[in-house]
Amino acid sequence: MKYIVKNLPEYFKFQDKALNSPEEFWGDIASTFVWKKKWDNVLNADMVNADIKWFEGGQLNITENCIDRHLKDRGEETAIIFEPNSPTEKAQHISYNQLSVEVNKIANVLRSQGIEKGDRICIYLPMIPELAYTMLACARIGAIHSVIFAGYSSTAIASRVNDAACKMVICADGSYRGTKEINLKSLVDKALENCPSVESVLVIKRTNGEVSMQSNRDFYLEELMQETQTICKPAVMDAEDPLFILYTSGSTGTPKGMVHTTGGYMVYTAHTFANVFQYKEKDIYWCTADIGWITGHSYILYGPLLNGATTIIYEGVPSYPDHNRFWEIVEKHKVNQFYTAPTAIRSLAKQDIKHVEKHDLSSLKVLGSVGEPINVEAWNWYYHHIGKERCPIVDTWWQTETGGILISPIPFTTPTKATFATFPLLGIQPVLMDDEGVEQEGNLTSGNLCIKKPWPGIARTVWNNHQRYKDTYFSAYPGYYFSGDAALRDPAGYYRITGRVDDVVIVSGHNLGTAPIENTINEQTIVAESAIVGYPHEVKGNALFGFITLKHEISSEEQENLKTAINEAIADQIGPIAKLSKIQFTVSLPKTRSGKIMRRILRKIAANELDNLGDTSTLLNPEAVQAIIDNRTD
Ligand code: WTA
Repeated sequence: MKYIVKNLPEYFKFQDKALNSPEEFWGDIASTFVWKKKWDNVLNADMVNADIKWFEGGQLNITENCIDRHLKDRGEETAIIFEPNSPTEKAQHISYNQLSVEVNKIANVLRSQGIEKGDRICIYLPMIPELAYTMLACARIGAIHSVIFAGYSSTAIASRVNDAACKMVICADGSYRGTKEINLKSLVDKALENCPSVESVLVIKRTNGEVSMQSNRDFYLEELMQETQTICKPAVMDAEDPLFILYTSGSTGTPKGMVHTTGGYMVYTAHTFANVFQYKEKDIYWCTADIGWITGHSYILYGPLLNGATTIIYEGVPSYPDHNRFWEIVEKHKVNQFYTAPTAIRSLAKQDIKHVEKHDLSSLKVLGSVGEPINVEAWNWYYHHIGKERCPIVDTWWQTETGGILISPIPFTTPTKATFATFPLLGIQPVLMDDEGVEQEGNLTSGNLCIKKPWPGIARTVWNNHQRYKDTYFSAYPGYYFSGDAALRDPAGYYRITGRVDDVVIVSGHNLGTAPIENTINEQTIVAESAIVGYPHEVKGNALFGFITLKHEISSEEQENLKTAINEAIADQIGPIAKLSKIQFTVSLPKTRSGKIMRRILRKIAANELDNLGDTSTLLNPEAVQAIIDNRTD
């Protein structure tokens, strides 16, 4: 891999090249991969029209780069360590050779089921090795995978399957998460009542629980694999052919199917993985995210395998069977790079420190954080107790849309600073904008975080809705990618991400759009109107507060029942992660004169910042604010 940063002068030198000669810079990096045909142009981008292409004319298959090219020299090295939910179940070490066999066999099964290049396949699986195998099998034959986090409800599955018109669903019979066993197949069955595009379902046995199998539609993968060849010729993909779709919440409307393409995503995830984690041969790398999110796609699967790394897939949760599980796994597998989310750090920091102290964590070299701003207490705890003040923390800022990390320290190079994501990675040019679209010059400033130049990993479109892609990311500041986050720049030029500026709330690291939750609440016949806002929460980072008006008064007992019904409906329609932590029924919601709900004020009330509500006199109904404050129940 080229341009791996070893010190600050080198960082500035490479950054200069990446920003001033991006074609040469990214072309050099891309040349280190296996291509079937070299590209004609490294870059062809129009940021005003949101038309971005990298490595146009190039042809490749990403699985040859993730698997085949490692086989000759390191086929027996471990690609994946699978750590099961239960510590009594043995961990599995899957070599690159074994990975190749599994992926090729499954790819042949997919072909024999009539899947062709460009078809969409929905994958709804727990964190088991088959999740990696099936994603790579899709990529092997050019099918587009759409992974849906296995905590989502039937309704959420159905809407995503229908949006992408998936031809097949791959699921497991069930999943283990801590003490829970969840029947995933029954959730899929319910979803598929409303999914006309799905022709077949492949079921992977994990729990061996009871499932119903529909004849001619549902098949056990292991049965189909029995007679299958272990070689599957990889499909030849154009660099700009879609690799996958991954849904992310927006502030309005349905989730957006972000489309990532093959060549640019490969080059960007591989390069950022190598730089941000400073991965060395034989290191053991562990990212605790779920592969159902972008962090898992880019930094459990593709980034590590492209580098020939050993990557851990952990099936369970941080608290099972006890709060020492993460540290036990670090010790057991001698983890060198550990990448997790602030919400996990906060919840583990609340436990007795003995859970940490009884484990040998001396293998750790680099610690990572992702998904939401990390608060100073969590940063310090992580640095002192887990990294023992030896391991730099890489606070990595990025998004589903960006494909890979954009702002992060380079360990052992960039001096870290608690709560700061520090400098942009190579080729990334962040800018801070004021509301008028004026770029804020110099340091010690703040604004809306935009990116000025295209980078290879950026999503190319929203599935089936390019206009929405353009409107969401390229219209606020024409010619710039707008992230939806605000940030500040300190005197040294370090970036600190301060949070979302739209109606997306990040709860335990999961992006939740408030609009779909409000729609679900409003479906209750007695509900007149609702507004959801986030408020600070000790462990989750943010939790959801719902302010709800009813069509007529009800007794307090009926109110309690309604709260339960609302949360059940949310769990059913969206998923349990979107449940409201607090609900307040109120006579009216504060509105502007044009009738828009003033969420800014509700956010302050929810956060209990009552002496800082701002000017309420211009509201249509200023009395609504006082009524809500007077009736607060907690
Ligand atoms: C937030 C996750 C502060 C941010 C990779 C972003 C962060 C959203 C950080 C994307 C960080 C992610 N510091 N905030 N280090 N990393 N975020 O799409 O608001 O699930 O816009 O991608 O998470 O979340 P997503």
